[in-house]
Amino acid sequence: MHDIQQMLEQKREQARKGGGEKRIAAQHAKGKLTARERLELLFDEGTFEEWDMFVEHRCVDFGMQDNKIPGDGVVTGYGMINGRLAFSFSQDFTVFGGALSEAHAEKICKVMDQAMKVGAPVIGLNDSGGARIQEGVASLGGYADVFQRNVMASGVIPQISMIMGPCAGGAVYSPAMTDFIFMVKDSSYMFVTGPEVVKTVTHEEVTAEELGGAGTHTSKSGVADLSFDNDVEAILMLRRFFNYLPLNNREKAPTRPSGDPGQRLDHSLDTLVPDNANKPYDMKELILKVVDDGDFFELQADYAKNILTGFARMEGQTVGIVANQPLVLAGCLDIKSSIKAARFVRFCDAFNIPVITFVDVPGFMPGTSQEYGGIIKHGAKLLYAYAECTVPKVTVITRKAYGGAYDVMSSKHLRGDVNFAWPNAEIAVMGAKGAVEIIFREDKGDPEKLAAKEAEYKARFANPFVAGARGFIDDVIQPHETRKRICRSLTMLKDKKLENPWRKHGNIPL
Ligand code: HXC
Repeated sequence: MHDIQQMLEQKREQARKGGGEKRIAAQHAKGKLTARERLELLFDEGTFEEWDMFVEHRCVDFGMQDNKIPGDGVVTGYGMINGRLAFSFSQDFTVFGGALSEAHAEKICKVMDQAMKVGAPVIGLNDSGGARIQEGVASLGGYADVFQRNVMASGVIPQISMIMGPCAGGAVYSPAMTDFIFMVKDSSYMFVTGPEVVKTVTHEEVTAEELGGAGTHTSKSGVADLSFDNDVEAILMLRRFFNYLPLNNREKAPTRPSGDPGQRLDHSLDTLVPDNANKPYDMKELILKVVDDGDFFELQADYAKNILTGFARMEGQTVGIVANQPLVLAGCLDIKSSIKAARFVRFCDAFNIPVITFVDVPGFMPGTSQEYGGIIKHGAKLLYAYAECTVPKVTVITRKAYGGAYDVMSSKHLRGDVNFAWPNAEIAVMGAKGAVEIIFREDKGDPEKLAAKEAEYKARFANPFVAGARGFIDDVIQPHETRKRICRSLTMLKDKKLENPWRKHGNIPL
């Protein structure tokens, strides 16, 4: 018995060493933690249960039969994050560069399958050279098995990808199908084809960092949600982020008691919006003043900044926040912002998280680049997302709600549950100036007459009461009582039940 126990310990020790001390030192020299060190940080101390530590690859080509490392380049298992269950796989770059073999893929699939059975999130810590080159198509099959599970798990359990090293070729498509992608600055990259191939095919010279580094994906492509300075910061933020999410689509997100009273008034909000309707203000200030303890976990903060998305809490309950940002492009909706917000709303809807929408939108962005880029189809994504969304929806119009964008931004017509407007809100087809220039085109040469008409139009339509008279908004509220009114609405909506008609699936304009 003693011998067997010793052998077990030896085997475990061998697995824990991964690719050996030299490669671990090389990993550290790059400023990266090892796969196991990452898991130790991710999970509450002593809670990680490792599976499949003794799994080895089955490849017999290129001398691989003599080159086996227990665990085969990925550490898998489950544990607790702030006392809540999560599954994870952490690719070990010290073992064959974290490359994915058939056996490596089977290990990932096993934890994904178990996570689906028990209803718990999967967190992937990606650090891999891609398909295990020695295995060929067996490795590609392994990727596809993971992809299939990503799709089946979508909307059932939250899936989070942390990119902590290379992630290239088809390998990018597993993270791409998860709900959130976070990256580590300077040590991670994602691209479908690397700089060498790019140079050959398109003759562009570009570095890996420029092509697919954290900066590129958080600000240009929108592929990643956030990036962090190093592994430690990334994992600690991931733990914080995890607290906002429910474990699965049948549960509600956990509540975190807060000392911030739901009835709290904030009189500084009464002067947030400038008198001049064309003057911008920072919508983030409103969010921070309304949510619990000023704590807003913003997502995609550097991408499509004309819309803000992220999680916060109201009286302890997780909420998703979507808000036009007048500071950027006057808060108008364009292709990028529509896609960004649509995907966020759909996540909230899938996982029972109420959506609060702050509206100050002058409309959709005009121009050939937007039209040629398909703003019609992409803007429709946001419309579709809000319209199919059945979780509690509370909307506050702080200033402009013009045209189609008024409809889109969680209006009453798209089953907004509670729709408020601030007293200075302008809910209209368009701004007074533009409206008068169209209706009174023949008076173009008479600025005085046009000014009078503009004033008349403004007095008639640039207020919340026309919409209020039709019940399109439920109440006109004082800015300082915004938090109180939203909290009350959410309490009223706590047990909201609304189901869409049965269908195989809808056909969102992709
Ligand atoms: C097997 C691999 C590997 C791979 C790296 N290694 N990638 N082994 N299959 N894909 C091994 C290396 O041989 C090396 O082994 C160790 O991992 C570390 O690699 P280095 O090159 O020394 O590290 P570094 O300089 O940091 O470069 C990392 C890298 C590079 C940029 C990832 O290794 C690389 O370009 N690898 C090939 C990437 C690739 O082309 N993958 C296939 C992509 S196609 P030793 O023993 O020396 O430590 C793909 C398709 C997926 O993935 C399709 C899904 C549908």
